[in-house]
Amino acid sequence: MRILSGIQPSGTIHIGNYFGMIKKMIESQDDGELFAFIASYHALTTVKEKEVLEKNIFEAAVNFLALGMDPEKSTFWVQSDVKEVLELYWLLSNHTSMGLLERAHSYKDKTAKGIQANHGLFSYPVLMAADILLFDSNIVPVGKDQIQHVEMTRDIANSFNHHYKTDILVLPEAKVDEVVATVPGTDGAKMSKSYGNTIDMFGTKKGIKKQVMGIVTDSKELDEVKDYTTCNIYKLCELFMNEDELKQLQQRYATPGEGYGHFKLSLLDKINEHFAPYVERRQHLLDNPKEVKEILEFGASKARKIASVKMEAIRDIVGL
Ligand code: TYM
Repeated sequence: MRILSGIQPSGTIHIGNYFGMIKKMIESQDDGELFAFIASYHALTTVKEKEVLEKNIFEAAVNFLALGMDPEKSTFWVQSDVKEVLELYWLLSNHTSMGLLERAHSYKDKTAKGIQANHGLFSYPVLMAADILLFDSNIVPVGKDQIQHVEMTRDIANSFNHHYKTDILVLPEAKVDEVVATVPGTDGAKMSKSYGNTIDMFGTKKGIKKQVMGIVTDSKELDEVKDYTTCNIYKLCELFMNEDELKQLQQRYATPGEGYGHFKLSLLDKINEHFAPYVERRQHLLDNPKEVKEILEFGASKARKIASVKMEAIRDIVGL
């Protein structure tokens, strides 16, 4: 079974990405053949500065590796190092209807937020389909926002297969963990780089504290009983605390005397504690960019081998 997913290096990776996708990917290294990549071409839809893109790609790689991506066991690469994906993207474009792309939520959301509509943004799902189909992926672990893109991949693969009377493109399935399908941000909306409501995994202590202290709550006073079921702090605590810890926290909400500031500090401790085991390895990688580069080159060469064989077979089917 092949498991594949990617992440855009479009900013600092946040705990929404971590719980929505990275954690599941790292854990799935024992369940099947894992393919994980940094979606550098996709990031071009929003990151237009060379230095920023380079830094983001490097940091995304460092974070994945620090969190436990094993480059020997799995295949881990930067999307733009395996150029076959662009060829498949073009072949698939000719089997993708305008109507399908016009229905994409992500495109509609992004343009509604003021991101300028261009062809790259519009055809983003076709490139994503190429990523998935090039590697015969069976399972695609993603957060809720990407489910539609995986469904579109199936539609595109079906219409290609149907047209050429083949089954060369393997239909993938999205795998979404309901508990963390949408991790909320500091304002309660979906945590997202583009909404400015994120909490970093490896930011400075001060930076993370500022983000946590900025979580939006109602204005109940210390001496009032508080409702954990509607509280943004509690929703984030659910990601980091076990059942006993959550029960204790519920009691603190029910007992007057503590304010939201106290609950935020408890959450902050849990966040720091959760990521502490990875800090040293991460720092080592940050200090050794050559090592990271070699790991990524090794991953790209493994991915390229598979991609070139697949692409050769697809070219043959279409008559190229
Ligand atoms: P990206 O970079 O936006 O997000 C990476 C992963 O993180 C998940 N995610 C979340 N999950 C839960 N709660 C949140 N608040 C949250 N925010 C983000 C996303 O669902 C995603 O799984 N298009 C993809 C990258 C990509 C890709 C692919 C993925 C390119 N090609 C092929 C799978 C297969 C994206 O934009 O991810």
